[in-house]
Amino acid sequence: MEIVHLRAGDCSLVLDVGGPRLPTVLHWGADLGDATPASQLGLTLAETLAVAVAALDEPASRSLVREHSAGYLGRPTLSGHRMGSDWSPSFALTGLEHSGDDRVTVHGVDPVARLGLRSEIELSPSGLLRLRHTLRNEGDSPYVVNELLCALPLPGQATELLDLSGRWCRERHPQRHPLELGSWVRENRRGRTGHDATIGLVAGTPGFGFRHGEVWAVHVGWSGNHVSYAGRWPSGDAVLGGGELLLPGEVSLAPAEEYATPWLYAAYSPHGLDGIAAAFHGYLRRRSHHPGPNRPRPVVLNTWEAVYFDHDFDRLRGLAGAAAEIGVERFVLDDGWFRSRRDDTAGLGDWYVDETVWPHGLEPLISHVRSLGMQFGLWVEPEMISPDSDLYRAHPDWILATGGRLPPTYRHQQVLDLANPDAYDHIRSRLDALLSENDIGYLKWDHNRDLIDAGHQARPGVHAQTLAAYRLLDELRAAYPGVEIESCSSGGHGLTSASWSAPTACGRATALERQTIQRWTGLFLPPELIGTHVGPPRAHTTGRVHDLSFRATIALLGHAGIEWDISSASPEERAALASWIGFYKRHRGLLHTGDVVHADHPDPAATLDGVISRDRSEALYAYVQTATSRFTVPVPVRLPGLDPDRRYVVQSVHPAGSPRTTLWPSPSWYAAGTITLPGGVLGAVGLTMPSLHPEQALLLQVTSVAR
Ligand code: DGJ
Repeated sequence: MEIVHLRAGDCSLVLDVGGPRLPTVLHWGADLGDATPASQLGLTLAETLAVAVAALDEPASRSLVREHSAGYLGRPTLSGHRMGSDWSPSFALTGLEHSGDDRVTVHGVDPVARLGLRSEIELSPSGLLRLRHTLRNEGDSPYVVNELLCALPLPGQATELLDLSGRWCRERHPQRHPLELGSWVRENRRGRTGHDATIGLVAGTPGFGFRHGEVWAVHVGWSGNHVSYAGRWPSGDAVLGGGELLLPGEVSLAPAEEYATPWLYAAYSPHGLDGIAAAFHGYLRRRSHHPGPNRPRPVVLNTWEAVYFDHDFDRLRGLAGAAAEIGVERFVLDDGWFRSRRDDTAGLGDWYVDETVWPHGLEPLISHVRSLGMQFGLWVEPEMISPDSDLYRAHPDWILATGGRLPPTYRHQQVLDLANPDAYDHIRSRLDALLSENDIGYLKWDHNRDLIDAGHQARPGVHAQTLAAYRLLDELRAAYPGVEIESCSSGGHGLTSASWSAPTACGRATALERQTIQRWTGLFLPPELIGTHVGPPRAHTTGRVHDLSFRATIALLGHAGIEWDISSASPEERAALASWIGFYKRHRGLLHTGDVVHADHPDPAATLDGVISRDRSEALYAYVQTATSRFTVPVPVRLPGLDPDRRYVVQSVHPAGSPRTTLWPSPSWYAAGTITLPGGVLGAVGLTMPSLHPEQALLLQVTSVAR
């Protein structure tokens, strides 16, 4: 037995790489330290792989690549065929590269099925593991890949699952259930990360929370069709995994051609979900292009809910002036600036400024915005085409469609076939023209329809479309490194995670729904990648009315912005917004680099989310009363993550106004506005909050006292 042991953060991965088959995953989970010699560790872990009664005469395989040929009866890692043959591959280990403590590449071959396989595993310093397989057709005839997944084993203790689902403006709400015998499968066939997408799948010990329990989580780094799944079999074996969901015949490998799976990102935490977030956030924050402290996330004003399609230079100029006055740093002109786009039924594809609305082009508005010291941003939806557009009339064959049949329209639009080189070049050149001819610092990249019945020539086209969209984004980023491109998909779910652009993830939902959306998006993305906008008093998407203090407190814990016609806001509202923006600017360094924490709170109608600086010297927490509390006297809320041995000043702060409280007398510290206590007391006992009315939020600023 030959063992490879990768360790980082709280996580260990132990592989038996002794062959002759592909490596067995002996352990993924708790850090096993380095005290035990590898061979002894391997033998101990291998004890778990026993021969069962009334089963195969050898222990069932827990290979990195689960094979039917080795007796695995769950969903095989590779499913494919060569006109019906070579359908049950059996790989032999042919090579291993093991560099440092953090990466392994495994090579395998099936000489009968004439397939080669390369598996790459990397463990980042934050403990985030990533894994992908690349399959190569070594034969002389095409090999059809039905599915190539990535999966990792789960231990017996992981008996509870958590995933996310939702709908427009209510994305990413959690659902939990036991992991019984059988499978739990979440499929996304929308060709984009949909409103109902689970952006990850989590398994854990019973009742795991944000701060307790062992937790294992995966995220599939692919925004096209994909699947996430968990399964447990009567043998006790269980897996957690995912991959691209390929449509029939979508990937057929010619001789010597390769197919690479998306990366599967996987994290383990011994201390609940906050540990999972730490592994993901740590990984993302180490990327060279990640927006760090030297590129603070600018305060945004987006024009969509302010003016919709009513593009009028004077009105927008006034809005820009009002925005600059309160401290906005990025002014984004949303949908409606291009030809024929007077409503959402026409114009997509005609990426020329509408001369009837903008007779002098966008230049006057851009100059005005720039002269006010703000960056100018523009909305685009490059993958889309309206049937009522000049582009469609000239090239009706440039859309994703199947056999001459038109897919149903969706928001009156079709999808441009980016795997068609002519269509691709056209869109690329229009975006080039926009970016080179105008002083644009930011693109809001929208994607408002699912890819339904989306064929490229005679084949399904989602796979090729996804790759082409990533290529387009990569090329534009390389050509215009100063332009930030954010993904948005109908306002809430465009997580193009393969390229990890910053999503306007939570833009349009009402503050109340967004509180939940932000919490759960934050399991995988750090706050600086989550767009959080203050909307008008009465939300356009739900009709709910919320106080500004509530809307502003929720929006603070992300990449903050405004989506509201503030030229119609009262002087008091504008003053409150200016104060809130000032607060955000002073604290975004903390909010966008610190550790994200959440309390496990016994009141189901209240939450506490926070961010703590890495050195534990300061923190901000938002206590949110989402509904009427079940208790007349609020239960003390623990402030997690502080250094138990330091003393902290806790202050209630109100940058956009105070929350409304009930008749119950507020605790003395709240009346005084401040209290000083040790981190150990704040973490273990907590602090009694004022009794808030429903849909109210309180912001706490916590600062350590000099030792
Ligand atoms: C959907 C987005 O959610 C909105 O913010 C806006 O950009 C519209 N698309 C524009 O059509």
